[in-house]
Amino acid sequence: MTLYSRITGTGSFLPPRRLTNADLAAELASKGVETSDEWIVERTGIKARHFAAPDVSSSDLAVEAARHAMDAAGLKPSDIDLIIVATSTPDMVFPSAACIVQHKLGIAGCPAFDVQAVCSGFVYALTVADAMIKTGTARKALVIGAEVFSRILDFSDRTTCVLFGDGAGAVVLEASTTPGILSSDLHADGKHVDILCVPGHVSGGQAQGNPLLKMDGPAVFKLAVGVLESSARAVLAKANLLDTDIDWLIPHQANIRIMQSTAKKLKLPLEKLIVTVDEHGNTSAASIPLALDVAVRSGKVKKGDTVMLEGVGGGFTWGAVLLNY
Ligand code: ACO
Repeated sequence: MTLYSRITGTGSFLPPRRLTNADLAAELASKGVETSDEWIVERTGIKARHFAAPDVSSSDLAVEAARHAMDAAGLKPSDIDLIIVATSTPDMVFPSAACIVQHKLGIAGCPAFDVQAVCSGFVYALTVADAMIKTGTARKALVIGAEVFSRILDFSDRTTCVLFGDGAGAVVLEASTTPGILSSDLHADGKHVDILCVPGHVSGGQAQGNPLLKMDGPAVFKLAVGVLESSARAVLAKANLLDTDIDWLIPHQANIRIMQSTAKKLKLPLEKLIVTVDEHGNTSAASIPLALDVAVRSGKVKKGDTVMLEGVGGGFTWGAVLLNY
């Protein structure tokens, strides 16, 4: 019998501290950095973001999101036999955030590892988990995206610090006799390393050395718009579906203009675009599972819907997953 994988539960978690653009602008003004709600909303669609408290790390956010996803799937931690965490802001250089999550969930023994593909991390992680389930290596996987990007922001650089937020999203992916994940498409091109990078690192959930994010926003924008369309077309072709078959488009939540342009290229009405960037900012690897969970819990995404997930980010990395929810 052919084995497939299916999402059986979603969950998410945002740290309680919410900053509107006005809150952030006021904080930045006290450091001599000028920005405004008007500029941020017009260029990005972001209205607010959440920042984790200093003693809260990615694994803490991941565990909360994972518990919500397991509750939705009707599973206990002891049922889980694979944990993959997509993150670029792990608690430590090693062990992986996934191992720390496993311990915090009170389980041991199952494989646990991180995937690092920046904002494409969740579509990479979901594709790896899907492959492991299809080969019989796992049956009930937790796939999580979790980030504390606030730790790696340069708050003297207004071109980047207003864009990002912290949070986590998770899904339970289970073996199934009916197809859930229909197709995926992953890519990377390391020659673009300089347009979006963090030269230093994070340790103990805190920044070390020179670990602040640098981004050439307009260059990333131009690349993102092109690859999001090509990846969307690739997963549709692999699954033998048309753009008119898509019920919901859930792209990486970085910038509303990039998301709307992708929807237009796929000739999707904007009502089929799931948008959480306004409330979450760009939460990197957490953005897609966070948006998926919001869409599921709000009743938009329903069982049987065809959903397109799309990631793009540092590396340069990009990819898409097409699934039957
Ligand atoms: N507040 C006020 N003014 C600002 C701010 C700010 N926060 N930031 C920049 N400006 C000014 C600039 O200084 C510039 O002023 P000037 O014309 O006097 O020189 C002006 O606004 C325009 O700046 P641009 O950088 O050209 O603005 P743009 O319209 O390109 O928007 C943005 C910038 C929002 C970053 C956009 O390029 C973007 O969204 N890029 C893609 C980001 C993305 O998708 N990332 C995904 C991957 S993230 C990851 O992988 C971690």
